[in-house]
Amino acid sequence: MSKEKFQEKIDAEKKIEPKDWMPEAYRKHLIRQISQHAHSEIIGMQPEGNWISRAPSLRAKMILLAKVQDEAGHGLYLYSACETLGISRQELIQQLHEGKAKYSSIFNYPTLSWADMGAVGWLVDGAAIVNQVSLQRTSYGPYSRGMVKICKEESFHQRQGYEIMSEMANGTPEQKEMAQDALNRFWWPSIMMFGPHDGDSPRTGNAMKWKIKRQTNDELRQSFIDKTVHQAEIIGLTIPDPDLKWNEERGHYDFGEMDWDEFWDVVNGNGPCNKQRLDHHKKAHDDGKWVRKAAKAYSDKQKNLVKN
Ligand code: 3HC
Repeated sequence: MSKEKFQEKIDAEKKIEPKDWMPEAYRKHLIRQISQHAHSEIIGMQPEGNWISRAPSLRAKMILLAKVQDEAGHGLYLYSACETLGISRQELIQQLHEGKAKYSSIFNYPTLSWADMGAVGWLVDGAAIVNQVSLQRTSYGPYSRGMVKICKEESFHQRQGYEIMSEMANGTPEQKEMAQDALNRFWWPSIMMFGPHDGDSPRTGNAMKWKIKRQTNDELRQSFIDKTVHQAEIIGLTIPDPDLKWNEERGHYDFGEMDWDEFWDVVNGNGPCNKQRLDHHKKAHDDGKWVRKAAKAYSDKQKNLVKN
């Protein structure tokens, strides 16, 4: 198939499947995006995992456990979708460990109080939902189908986070203060999850041409902000942006400028928790070596039984 024929297929909203011909650049672009998405899901388990043993009630503990387990499953779907593009899980993990692959900047911030569990669920998963609902229409079949399943679970993640924030914002003055502090620390890193402005995004051009992305970084960011401002007002919390203001003419909220020096600092490995997150992942991967070895020995044995 020619690149022109391939583009016609994309323009006709046809899904591209693993066995279909695809330009090498399309395949490589997808491997980058899907693998970094998968890494984000798995690394994202750490900030919340820290609080499972410190949850304030058995109910809260069960909810957080379920959420963190969901994230592991999301990582699994996404790694599996990525492997259909002809790259192995080992290579993907090695790229992460060698710093050749990224994961979402948001997970390099510390979670300092229980209210942070609320802010992460409400804002981080809320932002992820906006991004991932759009990705359900991505042109690559396995990625698109994985998103459908993930989005169903993300809604629970966002609601449980918002419930924590609502309870604390309406609790004692100290609890309200903790909730506001968590919002202050997570608001700007959450809106930076959507990536650089469209004009500064080297990948958006091809991503939109090949319908890997269906909306741009700025479109998704604006959609998230428009959805979230009222949610903060309802529970009596203040979004830490003095420039946030409804613009009747645009039909959207105007908002302040993000700190792009901070963003690229964190993306390039110099955030508050980058080293901790990667060291933890490397140790967990090493500790799990025996499990992978045993699983491989078992599957090899099964294959030999079938063969003989
Ligand atoms: N953190 C880390 N890296 C980021 C980033 C961020 N917030 N935003 C952008 N980048 C990276 C991009 O990956 C790209 O890196 P690369 O060229 O080495 O691949 C580079 O910065 C340039 O950015 P672009 O905007 O040009 O890149 P993209 O077009 O890929 O857009 C994106 C970035 C919007 C994150 C897009 O990759 C995307 O939609 N990815 C899928 C969704 C995803 O990964 N979400 C991460 C969070 S997952 C999550 O929150 C799980 C939930 O359950 C908690």
